[in-house]
Amino acid sequence: MSTEVLHREHRHFAPDATWVAQANVSGHAAYLALVREAERDPEEFWGRLARTYLVWKTPFQTVLNDRNPPFYRWFEEGTLNASHLCLDVPIERGMGEKTALIFESDDGTVTTLTYHALHERVCRFANALKSLGIGKGDRVIIYIAMSIEGIVAMQACARIGAIHSVVFGGFSAKSLQERILDTGARLIITADGQKRGGKIIQLKAIVDEALSMGAGMVEKVIVYARTGENIPWDSARDLWMKPLEESQSPLCIPTWVEAEHPLFILYTSGSTGKPKGVQHATAGYLLWSILTMTWVFDHHPEDVYWCTADIGWITGHTYVNYGPLAVGATQVIYEGIPSWPHAGRFWSMISRHRVSVFYTAPTAIRSLIKASNLDPEIHPQRFDLSSLRLLGTVGEPINPEAWMWYYQQVGNSRCPIADTFWQTETGGHVIAPLPGATTLVPGSCTLPLPGIDAAVVDETGQEVPPGHGGSLVIRRPWPAMLRNLWGNPERFQKTYFPSELKGYYLAGDGAVKDPTTGYFTITGRIDDVLNVSGHRLGTMEVESALATHPMVAEAAVVGKPDDITGEAIVAFVVLKQQRPAGAEAQQLASTLRQWVTREIGPIARPRDIRFGDNLPKTRSGKIMRRLLRSLACGEPMTQDISTLENPTILDQLRETL
Ligand code: WT7
Repeated sequence: MSTEVLHREHRHFAPDATWVAQANVSGHAAYLALVREAERDPEEFWGRLARTYLVWKTPFQTVLNDRNPPFYRWFEEGTLNASHLCLDVPIERGMGEKTALIFESDDGTVTTLTYHALHERVCRFANALKSLGIGKGDRVIIYIAMSIEGIVAMQACARIGAIHSVVFGGFSAKSLQERILDTGARLIITADGQKRGGKIIQLKAIVDEALSMGAGMVEKVIVYARTGENIPWDSARDLWMKPLEESQSPLCIPTWVEAEHPLFILYTSGSTGKPKGVQHATAGYLLWSILTMTWVFDHHPEDVYWCTADIGWITGHTYVNYGPLAVGATQVIYEGIPSWPHAGRFWSMISRHRVSVFYTAPTAIRSLIKASNLDPEIHPQRFDLSSLRLLGTVGEPINPEAWMWYYQQVGNSRCPIADTFWQTETGGHVIAPLPGATTLVPGSCTLPLPGIDAAVVDETGQEVPPGHGGSLVIRRPWPAMLRNLWGNPERFQKTYFPSELKGYYLAGDGAVKDPTTGYFTITGRIDDVLNVSGHRLGTMEVESALATHPMVAEAAVVGKPDDITGEAIVAFVVLKQQRPAGAEAQQLASTLRQWVTREIGPIARPRDIRFGDNLPKTRSGKIMRRLLRSLACGEPMTQDISTLENPTILDQLRETL
């Protein structure tokens, strides 16, 4: 989105009086009071919140230890347990019989679980993990689809201080294996398969394949029987989840851990090399999950909350597993996809479960707009969405048209939209409106949350004037920020706190601040990271995958804008053999697409593959990516190509298959 769009966007929506009256942060003045409190004395502010919102086993004395930046330590001396906060605390507060989870399966079967029942399952499973010798600090890989069992697995790890690393079920055996080795996991929790869109997708077979490439430290694989299909079994290694759980005691005293104890590792793509293991700390992360549930999602006890993200992504960690449970919410979790058995599934679920707070991604909204244009039967206006009071979006910039549709057609022009900007690394929302306090502008994530010192800067860390584009940074540390990259402190420091930026946290996104309102608009990644359907992928990651194919000599990958997925992957490929044409080129393109799917997963499959005898390079041999981007988009070439070693190559690469 360009700066002009923001300047042209005059529509704005102030919170109405009833909303303001009932909101947890009521009115703009209340928001400003929090912002000022944080500015006046950040440590005092965070200390107050950590004492108010977290439940400590032992209290902390130091709010922030910043003696060794960027390795910040928060609430150091305190001890607590995440699963205690998510289960025992709501129960102690009288919510034992409240519904915690409403699980809807792919085929529409609904299972509900109270806080008591979830607590019991988590305790049994935590004891089962202990019986296998898993304990504090051990890494556990979770490779499972959206399910109650996935949440039980994450919570059980947290209960015994084991560090979970959830791998999205769409990742390939190879990607899974990289994560198994990088974490040094001793245990994998998976399912026989998953059900999505009426189809069964294997999971255990992929785990087997990953382990056959080298199992590292893995001793056991626990399998949740979801599909009941016959699967290969290694009786020395594999265990079924249910009998294991049921043989255990329903009581499990939480393992109290230090505030800074790693709660989880979650891999995400960077601009270079292999995915990075983003490491989050227990206390700071939980504090922010609770605060953003309270402030941004305005959590009220009677809400029925639904975040459509998968637990394989950070959104599913903060806003499915930890945040909602820690505030004692009733939440919907869904196994399947938005388009099954029809593209009205989301609206039908909102209406049947009386969802009041709904959080999804722009890519889903855009595909549902398209679907309801084609089939009026599944248009949101055909469903009773009167239970909704608040909508949210995340994952990529939302275009004002999609925003307006979401606002009018889904929210009936009654529900504020929280456009939440954040990242795997930030742990939770960092720039987002507070629905009872902030006037909304379509396409803008509005203002930084209290305590978040966000700014738009130039290459030297100097703030740029409002209205000018620059790089988004966060200048002061905050409790939910990532603590490290697993096993790679150098990369952590280099990637997020480059020396020229005065110690600021570098987000990797471009942003512009509105001169009058101070509102932020995110303009997209400024590094080599793509955003396809809200999923992050490194161009280098896809290029490396292509380059491992025996026929490929060289490959370059860029993103091109796409109406539905935000960006689509275009790969420019040079083969070791002659440049193919016609049917042969088609055939090879399809082989390479499958190859990338196998190497990384279906989310990385290139939309468009083009073959050339070479790639456009400067005389020093550097690939000219800007040119490739113009080619991918079919734009006229405005760049200076005089430094190009091989200008004739451009004609070849312009040709689509
Ligand atoms: C990247 C982070 C945070 C959970 C989902 C993605 C983009 C995210 C927004 C938004 C504009 C957004 C950014 C960011 N992004 N939310 N509301 N407006 N862009 O987490 O995989 O770590 O990706 O997603 O480019 O850097 P992630």
